[in-house]
Amino acid sequence: MGSSKVSRSFIEELLSRVDIVDVVSHYITLKQVGRNFTALCPFHPEKTPSFVVSPEKQIFKCFGCGVGGNAITFVEKYEGISFFEAVKRVAEICGVELPQGEFKEEEGSAVEEFGYRAAKFFNSRLESVLPYLEERGVDRETADRFLLGYAPRGYLRELRNIPKEALEALGLVNSKGGEFFADRLIIPIFNHSGKVVAFAGRALREGSSPKYINSPESSLFKKGSLLYGFYQSKEEVLKSRQVVVVEGYFDVISLHRLGVKRAVAPMGTSLTESHAKFIKRYCTKPLLLFDGDGAGRKAAVRSAGIFLKLGCEPMVVQLPDGEDPDSLSRSNPELLLKLISSPLPFIEWAVKSAKVIPPEERSDFLKLVAQSIAPLRSVNPILFKEYLSLLSAEFGIDEKWVKLYSPRIYQPKKGEAEESPIPYYEKVFLKALLEGSLKLPVELSSTVFVSSKIAKLYTVLTKTDVREPTLLQSQYPEEADLISELLLMEVSEEDILKAMCRLLTKELERRLKKTRELREKMRIKKLIFSLKRGDLGAVSRIKTN
Ligand code: UTP
Ligand code: MN
Repeated sequence: MGSSKVSRSFIEELLSRVDIVDVVSHYITLKQVGRNFTALCPFHPEKTPSFVVSPEKQIFKCFGCGVGGNAITFVEKYEGISFFEAVKRVAEICGVELPQGEFKEEEGSAVEEFGYRAAKFFNSRLESVLPYLEERGVDRETADRFLLGYAPRGYLRELRNIPKEALEALGLVNSKGGEFFADRLIIPIFNHSGKVVAFAGRALREGSSPKYINSPESSLFKKGSLLYGFYQSKEEVLKSRQVVVVEGYFDVISLHRLGVKRAVAPMGTSLTESHAKFIKRYCTKPLLLFDGDGAGRKAAVRSAGIFLKLGCEPMVVQLPDGEDPDSLSRSNPELLLKLISSPLPFIEWAVKSAKVIPPEERSDFLKLVAQSIAPLRSVNPILFKEYLSLLSAEFGIDEKWVKLYSPRIYQPKKGEAEESPIPYYEKVFLKALLEGSLKLPVELSSTVFVSSKIAKLYTVLTKTDVREPTLLQSQYPEEADLISELLLMEVSEEDILKAMCRLLTKELERRLKKTRELREKMRIKKLIFSLKRGDLGAVSRIKTN
């Protein structure tokens, strides 16, 4: 997806004109409780509401899972769209007009426009592949929903009003100027916001190789993060909060035809962490529906591992051997629907599978299972123990065994260390700073903060002109959760002064180490002494030098 710019002044204006309560209520039901509104959190499963919306501060925060932000970031997260798209949606929901000239269109939108035009052309030739589609059980409505088409030989002549660069970007022409997709069924690839960014072409005769060809990767088409069918699934995904992950294009298409309009597939590669993170925004228990053979089982374990690493426990549907979702949707649709409605939690499926697969495949399968669950040890130790006890009861697998097959997981990689908890006094300090109720006698070095997030926000607040907390959330989305938390904290004057003393002490200690001059050393020592005794008056005696 192209990066896009929208001016800060417009975001500022938008945030000042919208009411976050209107925006959130557009998606979920809020209940007023005192000054705030609450709801069951849409970002994690829960039975009692810990999701809070503050009309006063124009922010939201979930005290269960920690997510927080402003009206725009709410839409961004809830719909899983880009910041740019979210700005447009919020403006739409609240009836705010988008400034024409200022609101730059997304980069690459021209190529996407041509992509759509090419797809429409191929779709207009659908006639030629109707017998093929009929044989595969794809009705006209489904074909149009996915804008399927046919690329006749000589299609480039028909597309001559599309600039060469666009044809290249879309992969419709190869480097030698040849027709990449001639005489194939065309499956346009829509990105998550519905733009045609690439194509896949399927051979029309069995046995011709390669079976599928795909446009090469481009700045608009990233296989590692794009999910085929997501755009068409979005409505049902938002409604049902469930995503069905399958392996192939036709699995997606056939499930949609069957009415399971929440099926997505990676693009011929295996599922990536980026895919999983994206899916996780929409549902807590993704459904894995892979081929019924050994390869499908292995792929299911691998994909499950990616979700488990993110702390997300998938469900798995086992298909009969030799079937994939597409084939079963034709041979026995009732069975397929029944299986989809009764998936097993990953670990139960894994145990059951390990018992039925041929004994010679069992140990490889279990090794893969061990590797997949290993990350849980740090992500969700309770679930990890639960999994281990099941595996050990059935197969004698213990923690040592898991360790043996996934030694890497047991040595945390550099940079992967858990973000340490933020000290209370740093939170209090930053809250006061954010709310403008703090005047600092001296500048603090960012090294006095334990938390890198607090240090970053401190620098932004003191070194840039961004002050408005909600605006800050849009500019620094990574810190949005924390900002909401700070704004909703209740702190006393005394806490604020204590926090200030503590950080000033650290700053003075830092300066003391660097000072050579004896008199200055004495002065700083005295100040530190006063601050440590809680003499808040000392704060005002500190002078910069
Ligand atoms: P499969 O080989 O399982 O094909 O590949 P399929 O989905 O069952 O295909 P149909 O039903 O015979 O049409 C799964 C996915 O791997 C990618 C495609 O995304 C395919 O849907 N693939 C497969 C390729 O990209 N190229 C290939 O040559 C084969
Ligand atoms: Mn198939």
